Amino acid sequence: MSAPNKSYDPVEVEALKPEEIERMRNEALAAFAAAADLEALREAKAAHMGDRSPLALANREIGALPPQAKAEAGKRVGMARGAVNKAFAARQAELEAERDARVLVEEAVDVTLPYDRVPAGARHPLTTFCERVEDVFTAMGYEVAEGPEVEAEWFNFDALNFEPDHPARAMQDTFFVAGDKPGRETGVVLRTHTSPVQVRSMLDREPPIYVVCPGRVYRTDELDATHTPVFHQVELLAIDEGLTMADLKGTIEHMVRSLFGEGLTTRLRPNYFPFTEPSAELDMQCYVCRGASVGNPEQPCRTCSSEGWIELGGCGMVNPRVLVAAGIDPEKYSGFAFGFGIERMLMFRHNVEDMRDMVEGDVRFTRPFGMEI
Ligand code: PHE
Repeated sequence: MSAPNKSYDPVEVEALKPEEIERMRNEALAAFAAAADLEALREAKAAHMGDRSPLALANREIGALPPQAKAEAGKRVGMARGAVNKAFAARQAELEAERDARVLVEEAVDVTLPYDRVPAGARHPLTTFCERVEDVFTAMGYEVAEGPEVEAEWFNFDALNFEPDHPARAMQDTFFVAGDKPGRETGVVLRTHTSPVQVRSMLDREPPIYVVCPGRVYRTDELDATHTPVFHQVELLAIDEGLTMADLKGTIEHMVRSLFGEGLTTRLRPNYFPFTEPSAELDMQCYVCRGASVGNPEQPCRTCSSEGWIELGGCGMVNPRVLVAAGIDPEKYSGFAFGFGIERMLMFRHNVEDMRDMVEGDVRFTRPFGMEI
């Protein structure tokens, strides 16, 4: 039986010397301790625990040792690696806890903050009211028609039977679009009413025609409590065979009921418009006092100034000359038109006392009308 080879000393293998192993271990521990974040720790791990780390290389040397030396060297390297693994795991846990604590602070969401610091806003009552009027008429089979706000004088006046020198042209306080030199007029205006859309609709379509034309119009008025240079009108146009004033009145009564409630009547007062003949001013019974304030000083009505009636707008049977200008045979077709101002209607419908409230865009005015989005 041969004696153990006493002459073999495992420390001869440089990498397996106890102090070398100790140094490797300490270096690894120092590197982990110095790693300031998880990224640095990951690099330290590759350097000290990876396949090419000093301890891994030392481990590989063990295989080459004689059997009796293997156990001791194996134990030494194993213990060092165990300590390194442990130190790594401890530092990793520490750095992860630090990161989690930091993220909790940095990414904290204060759920008690108001969620709507940017208010959603409200649609303007002029828009929503215009749409309500459109709804009333589209439900009756009308089509919504629109036209340009910068309009040819021909559509705004001539086709509507305003003679060139007709005072009505001045009556409407028109904004004319200036030409480049005096006497070189453009023939273009900011439309003073939505009636030019009547003409455009008749030129675009074959009768029967039923259109409702909402839109912005312009007149040279100063902005004050009862005037604004930019306002809105809705105009109605019906062209068909055999239409009469009775159809006009029935249609408007339906609109009045839809917008102001049941049981309200309307009345016509003679008036003049170049584009309708006969023409009338249309009043509706006051929807607040229903006439009870008339001659009754005890019960005055603010809405109708105790007159019992509210003026709605102008109307009439389309003048045959307008039909001809728009290429429609007046022997076969007749039509009615009705136009009214949206601001004015909104004012008496909601007791708005100052027109300026409607154009200033202050949300404190708009908000009580609701968020109809
Ligand atoms: N366009 C007219 C105006 O603005 C109103 C109107 C429309 C009158 C339709 C009669 C028929 O004054």
